[in-house]
Amino acid sequence: MPLQSTKHIWHNGKLIRWEDAHVHVMSHVIHYGSSIFEGIRCYKTEQGAAIFRLPDHMQRMLDSAKIYRMDLPYTLEQLNEAVVETVEANGVAPCYVRPIAFRGYGELGVHPGKNPIEVYVGNFPWGKYVSGDHGADVCISSWNRLAPNTMPTLAKAGANYMNSQLIRMEAFTNGYDEGIGLDVNGLVSEGSGENLFLVYKGQLLTSYLGSSVLAGITRASILTLARDMGISVVEQPIPRELLYIADEVFFTGTAAEVTPIRSIDRILIKDGHAGPVTKQLAAEFFGITSGKRPDRFEWLTPVKVAVEEAVNA
Ligand SMILES: Cc1ncc(COP(=O)(O)O)c(C=O)c1O
Repeated sequence: MPLQSTKHIWHNGKLIRWEDAHVHVMSHVIHYGSSIFEGIRCYKTEQGAAIFRLPDHMQRMLDSAKIYRMDLPYTLEQLNEAVVETVEANGVAPCYVRPIAFRGYGELGVHPGKNPIEVYVGNFPWGKYVSGDHGADVCISSWNRLAPNTMPTLAKAGANYMNSQLIRMEAFTNGYDEGIGLDVNGLVSEGSGENLFLVYKGQLLTSYLGSSVLAGITRASILTLARDMGISVVEQPIPRELLYIADEVFFTGTAAEVTPIRSIDRILIKDGHAGPVTKQLAAEFFGITSGKRPDRFEWLTPVKVAVEEAVNA
């Protein structure tokens, strides 16, 4: 997906021009993958542009930094403001927002030493992430997800995405829309950039946080919506074969939003169509993000970006 540039990028407290947001090749992050980041959507709702779960994303960024002993010189409130300032300065909605912090230029060597922490926020237009208009055809990857106590998956770190790249590239090479990684015990973990849900015997199941998943903000939103709608929800270890015999399977994520899965390893999930629970949860999720249904959990942060027309859910 080619990147569409916008005018400004926020860097360490100031807006700079998109063209000027350079990084030196000898920066620590380039050599050792020392970055943490977020991916956030700003929607074009019927009431105007609004960022989805901004404080939750920025809190996760602070948590990722904490895990990697990175002292971000900004508070949660300042990071929230940085995102709002960037989105408003660029005047693009809907869009995808990418805050990132990394260890910069100064010393080389694995220990981060006195390298400065650089914080940037950029945003740009972005569309659908997982292809397949009538549900995604996905595979179980031959690559496992990160083993516990190696790379912490609760940190959204740039380096984790080397694993995600292997999963996604293998899936694409073999003609699938996305790949699912198993954890080192062979239990279901998640997609290369999405959490996974399934419906089995009337219950909504998702992998527990011990299965090497990212604690997705969309995952948390779906859990909240499901409980609120009276759907029984369980976070638990999930055997691979439960996916094949499930009634419904779907991905969640900021990029993927709610994406139904049609087949896994060419095995059709039920009749291959999005099931009633997926549809009900997707309707509620897109209802809130489009402003058509009340924002009853206060997930939307309004931003001042001119919105000409409403987005269709
Ligand atoms: C590996 C991985 N899992 C899950 C998710 C979904 O997380 P969220 O809903 O916070 O976007 C993402 C999204 O970035 C991801 O990269």
